[in-house]
Amino acid sequence: MNQLELIRALPKAELHVHIEGTFEPELMFAIAQRNNIAIPYQSVEEVKEAYNFHNLQSFLDIYYAGANVLVHEQDFYDLAWAYFEKCAEDQVVHTEMFFDPQTHTDRGIAFATVINGLQRACDDAQSKLGISSRLIMCFLRHLSEEAAFVTLEQALPYKEQIIAVGLDSSEVGHPPAKFARVFAKAREYGFLVVAHAGEEGPPEYIWEALDLLKVNRIDHGVRSEEDQALMQRLIQDEMPLTVCPLSNLKLCVVQDMRQHNIRRLLQQGVKVTVNSDDPSYFGGYMNDNFIAITEALDLNADELKQLAINSFEASFLPAAQKQAWIEKIQAL
Ligand code: ADE
Ligand code: ZN
Repeated sequence: MNQLELIRALPKAELHVHIEGTFEPELMFAIAQRNNIAIPYQSVEEVKEAYNFHNLQSFLDIYYAGANVLVHEQDFYDLAWAYFEKCAEDQVVHTEMFFDPQTHTDRGIAFATVINGLQRACDDAQSKLGISSRLIMCFLRHLSEEAAFVTLEQALPYKEQIIAVGLDSSEVGHPPAKFARVFAKAREYGFLVVAHAGEEGPPEYIWEALDLLKVNRIDHGVRSEEDQALMQRLIQDEMPLTVCPLSNLKLCVVQDMRQHNIRRLLQQGVKVTVNSDDPSYFGGYMNDNFIAITEALDLNADELKQLAINSFEASFLPAAQKQAWIEKIQAL
């Protein structure tokens, strides 16, 4: 089996994907039309031309605008279902998806509308495609601590459907410390916790996510390499990093895929995983990310398997299910 065949064959877990970031232009047009919502593009080609981001904020502005066409429960279902079909193509057998409730509730969409649509798609993915999934609710860090507390309370009736809370949106200027009290409350309620840190923000933000938010995983974390003490901490704690190579390239976190540090992190013993982040905006889903790093960094079969094993070890699946997938990978 060559590398490409191995990538396709490996069972994989995706741990860092924003469901609103899987919104393909074709579906965006269809939903905009049926909801009678104007979008500032004439064609799918025009949408794609607008995707020439140069940093996180320039992406987020377009990403939030796209999410505005989502109104009905069926819209959220269709969005998630389209993503699950991509998972099936890429042998992603388990996924832990972020959703941003505030992007929708701030437009007057009920929390229930969002989560019921997503959950129905998750249920169908299990029964029709054999794909397991969990939902992670993210707080938008550019909004206030108070707004995050309101969202946390709104989530409580749906506690069984939400495995963890996370932290996303504009990183620089909004350190994890801003949400220390919200995360403490979320942990008290029994949610697992993750946070974006060290994507554009400095290593100090990763320290804060570890020490103040007490995260179970760091999302991105690629800037940890700038701080040797932090590297030691991540290795010692076996703290997973959910790395998103094509996202890093598209948002100019790295200038060239050959400069990406995922292989170095892996070789140093950091529990790195491969993920797609916002695949509709960044040029590819799970396997595209694996292929891009394999071509740029010449990853070998053992490294590819380790990345897939890491994705299950770092997941929130029960231990027996993790083990079963890991044995399938080792048998390849
Ligand atoms: N929301 C969606 N994608 C994101 C990313 N890569 N970083 C921060 N917030 C996001
Ligand atoms: Zn992200």
